[in-house]
Amino acid sequence: MQQYDVVIIGAGAAGLMCAAQAGYRGRQVLVLDHAPKAAAKIRISGGGKCNFTNLNVKPEHYITQNPHFVKSALARYPSSQFIELVERHAIDYEERSHGQLFTMQGAGQIIQMLRQECDWAEAKIQLNTHIHKLEAQADVGFIIQTSEGDYMAQSLVVASGGLAYPKLKASDFGHRIAQKFGLNVMPSRPGLVPLVFKSSWKDWFSELSGLSMEVEIRSAGHIFREAMLVTHHGISGPVVLQTSNYWQPGQPIEINLLPDKDVLAELKQLKSQSQSLNKWLSQLTTKRFSQAWLAKYPLDKPLAECTDKELEDYALSLSQWRLYPEDTAGYDKAEVSLGGVDTNEVSSKTFESYKQPGLYFIGEVLDVTGHLGGYNFQWAWASAVACAQAV
Ligand code: FDA
Repeated sequence: MQQYDVVIIGAGAAGLMCAAQAGYRGRQVLVLDHAPKAAAKIRISGGGKCNFTNLNVKPEHYITQNPHFVKSALARYPSSQFIELVERHAIDYEERSHGQLFTMQGAGQIIQMLRQECDWAEAKIQLNTHIHKLEAQADVGFIIQTSEGDYMAQSLVVASGGLAYPKLKASDFGHRIAQKFGLNVMPSRPGLVPLVFKSSWKDWFSELSGLSMEVEIRSAGHIFREAMLVTHHGISGPVVLQTSNYWQPGQPIEINLLPDKDVLAELKQLKSQSQSLNKWLSQLTTKRFSQAWLAKYPLDKPLAECTDKELEDYALSLSQWRLYPEDTAGYDKAEVSLGGVDTNEVSSKTFESYKQPGLYFIGEVLDVTGHLGGYNFQWAWASAVACAQAV
């Protein structure tokens, strides 16, 4: 049986970062992954350009049962440190809206950088490895039986990610390990995911598919303003993905289609100048949207004949358009999963489980989900670095 100081399950963002950092501390590290390639999610992230962090990372950008949990790791490894690492590897990057940083040449560079760091730190990465059995043994640590042999480790780090995107080998393995050792796991659901509609709404959106417009969406007390993209099944785009983290089935969402406009004032002006509602809306959105909107929400009489109350109601239909999504598009289309290993079960400083000494959880396997914008990777890096100091 081969012996290591640290075995890490999952060669994704958190696992590779932790491996390199622990390796630099002189720990003998082995990373195991059942997938044929390391860090598959990094490769497809950010449309292939990897939104690897954000200039403005705050605890408020994270959703977790215990909002204080993320503070320590994020403070100890701010985004500036990851940017420094990226710069040391001469990776070109650009800042896009909302402080989001993306590589210029492609996400593969971030994977290459992490693998290079693991090589320099002499941390070993072993892919295509299926874990059959895990056991904790007093004085020994952990025994890990796999398709490629058996291993012993003092510390076991679970970095197996969340449930989103199962076609890239996402699994609930980390949640099952937590449960096996008696840790609580918060229920999971898809996050950063499109919202879908059924029957007539689905058909309505499908007709408009491909349309993009900047809107403001309010849901469950949270408000986001970014681009909305209409799809064949409903709505997507950054503003919808952000909203999906807070939306619960059965709840409405409220869309302000014209967030820069005082819609009532404009309708009153249109009325006084006897102008066309269709022309006005076409100019502010698109001809296609305006026509579809007016077919769905026609004014039952000419603008000139509308009372102030009728104008007010119509203005509200545009600025507080209330919709009831049927569901999310599910894990197949989600960027992350909400829920995961209960943050009350592990130390926010070391990520070690309180119930099982030597057992650590980092990255998305934990009940920590970031907003869209590089926050999820920053969580992976920061939790990995904190854990690497402790293993
Ligand atoms: P991650 O999922 O990266 O790694 C887990 C690893 O564990 C995988 O390699 C997996 O194969 C392995 N594993 C799972 N089960 C196993 C088992 N039973 N045995 C062995 N190994 C196992 N975030 C962001 O900040 N910016 C962005 O641009 C994007 N873009 C994006 C696009 C898309 C399409 C997706 C699906 C996701 C994103 N994300 C993102 C989210 C981001 O990818 C995610 O939060 C991090 O990869 C999480 O890092 P982890 O290391 O925790 O898990």
